Amino acid sequence: MTLRIRKYGDPVLETNCTPVAQFGTDELKQLVEDMFETMYAHKGVGLAAPQVGLSQRLTVIDTSAGEDPAARLVLINPEILEKQGKQVGEEGCLSIPGFREDVARAMQVRVRAQDVNGEFFEADGEELLARAIQHELDHLNGILFLSHLSPLKRDLIRRKIRKLQKAGEWE
Ligand code: NI
Repeated sequence: MTLRIRKYGDPVLETNCTPVAQFGTDELKQLVEDMFETMYAHKGVGLAAPQVGLSQRLTVIDTSAGEDPAARLVLINPEILEKQGKQVGEEGCLSIPGFREDVARAMQVRVRAQDVNGEFFEADGEELLARAIQHELDHLNGILFLSHLSPLKRDLIRRKIRKLQKAGEWE
C-alpha cells in the first residue's frame, strides 16, 4: 500500500523522531514494505518515516531505485559512526518536490542500525549511498536539506513554496 507523503510545512517533518522500541512485529514489517512501495512509486532513493507522518527513527533506502533487491537498506534507530571526505552534489527530497540544490555531504559514512528484528548491524556507504544515508538520518532529527543551503537560497525556496501553498498547489 502506498502511503501519503507529507510535504514541507507539515510539522512532523521538523520534529525529532522517537526510537523504534517494538521489533519483529507484523506492523513494523508492513510499514517497511509500504515505505519501499511508496518510495518506488515516487522514484525516490530514500524515504524516512516522518515523511509518511510517523515520528519514528526508521528509514528505507535503495539507490538502485528498485533495480537490485540487494540494494534495499532498512535502517532503524541508526547512528553514524564515521564520516570521511566531502562531496558536493544535487539533492532533492520527496517532501519538497520540484526543488533540487547542491548540498555538501561527507563522501563516505559508516552507520550502525537495527533491522526489523532488532538485530544490530553496520553498513558502509559512499557517494550516492552516503548522501542518501546522511539525508535520511537528518529527517529523523527533523532536519531538511534546506537547512544545508545558504540563507539566501533557503529563503528563496521558502517563498516559492509559500506561493504554491497559497495557490493550493502544495498538498
Ligand atoms: Ni528527504
